[in-house]
Amino acid sequence: MKTLLLYSTRDGQTHKIAQAIQLEMVPQQVDLYDLSASPVIDWSLYDKVIIGASIRYGRFAPQLAEFVNAHTQELAQRVSAFYSVNLTARKPEKASPETNVYTQKFLSSSPWAPDEVVVFAGALRYPRYRWFDRFMIGLIMKMTGGETDKSKEVEYTQWDKVREFSRKIADKKSKSLAI
Ligand SMILES: Cc1cc2nc3c(=O)[nH]c(=O)nc-3n(C[C@H](O)[C@H](O)[C@H](O)COP(=O)(O)O)c2cc1C
Repeated sequence: MKTLLLYSTRDGQTHKIAQAIQLEMVPQQVDLYDLSASPVIDWSLYDKVIIGASIRYGRFAPQLAEFVNAHTQELAQRVSAFYSVNLTARKPEKASPETNVYTQKFLSSSPWAPDEVVVFAGALRYPRYRWFDRFMIGLIMKMTGGETDKSKEVEYTQWDKVREFSRKIADKKSKSLAI
């Protein structure tokens, strides 16, 4: 059976991480879908599900909770994993599922209990943002002691952590599907 990998991205980093996970697993056995495109899923193909989503202004895109709420049963029947992507996680003490506030908040209010949860640091790409977002994220970075040079693009994602997570999911035994 295959792995379903759904991602919710605004600027591409969560998609880039999804592609890296796909490469690290058996690529032909991983199907990637963008959650914002409201994909129609043939669940009978999948015994594992990974969902990745990024934070913008303190929130995940609403499609994340919508999808999870609509498919709680399908998720519970399969090996499932969640990865969240944000810039708070550039600080090691805020990069675990227990210490990353966005991840904690989502999981505590969600009916989904993923088998694995991981938090990845995202990317800061000032030149690509429209002026308002550049200004706002600049302000957030200033307040939190981050990069404030607006000409910079910085990728904080720890790719070895992405690969380790991928291997962990690949090695998991499927649940016996009672479907
Ligand atoms: C306008 C804007 C607002 C953001 N707000 C937050 C935030 O509130 N907290 C945080 O930790 N990261 C925040 N980020 C950082 C993003 O989570 C990070 O850039 C991530 O890599 C985005 O992933 P994506 O490209 O898949 O959307 C923000 C980024 C932008 C551009």
